[in-house]
Amino acid sequence: MRIYREKDYEKMSQKAAEMICAQIMMKPDCVLGLATGSTPVRTYEKLVERYQNKEIDFSEAVSVNLDEYRGISKDNAQSYHYFMRRHLFDHINMKAFYLPDGMEEDTKKECRRYEELIASLGGIDLQLLGLGNNGHIGFNEPGESFEKETHCVCLHQSTIEANKRFFQSAEEVPKQACTMGIGTIMQAKKILILVSGEKKAEMVKRAFWGPITPRVPASILQIHQDVTLIGDEAALSKIPDCGRKFG
Ligand code: F6R
Repeated sequence: MRIYREKDYEKMSQKAAEMICAQIMMKPDCVLGLATGSTPVRTYEKLVERYQNKEIDFSEAVSVNLDEYRGISKDNAQSYHYFMRRHLFDHINMKAFYLPDGMEEDTKKECRRYEELIASLGGIDLQLLGLGNNGHIGFNEPGESFEKETHCVCLHQSTIEANKRFFQSAEEVPKQACTMGIGTIMQAKKILILVSGEKKAEMVKRAFWGPITPRVPASILQIHQDVTLIGDEAALSKIPDCGRKFG
């Protein structure tokens, strides 16, 4: 695992945007796996800036997002589809972007469709991840086993609490979501995980320096062959002093 310790959120976002651009320059027709949440927002802004400055071209790239809430349509301002358009897709020339359909009633069918879609694209070249306060990646919540494929989950109360800031109240946060599985994520050729802020510090330590366990879903990343962790000083404050980078 490579670790980049950046001074603050701004620098973390700068580094993440550079890595995503490098991926696109190396393979213009790549498949990006993307995430929502607060952490990647500034990274997306920086990608938009670089696109507007004609420094990067997304016209051959496609993306697949990690997850989507169940029961809200893509035009709903709280949907992850809407979030991604607002922060990224409406401002760049991505060839195509895909998210699970949160309105499909037959969830098994939808999850299978999403897995098949990712396979038909040739798999994910670079998967961007955030880290949940409870150790989740995508919406793979802490549990007794690692779920392999795209599946429907009941969100943990801690996730509902963490995400209520995007809604009027906790009651409005959907209780279920459709998420790529741990196996889907682990099949990505490269993983880029971003962590920012002191409230992530303890979980960063547990996930990357603790035992590999489904109780901390992100801990599985310890055995992925190509993981880059970019964190600000606050989020990396509880890990051994690794300097700027180590492999
Ligand atoms: C988002 C996602 C989640 C978030 C995680 C961190 O698509 O799948 O796993 O990455 O909850 O969220 P933030 O960045 O808001 O702390």
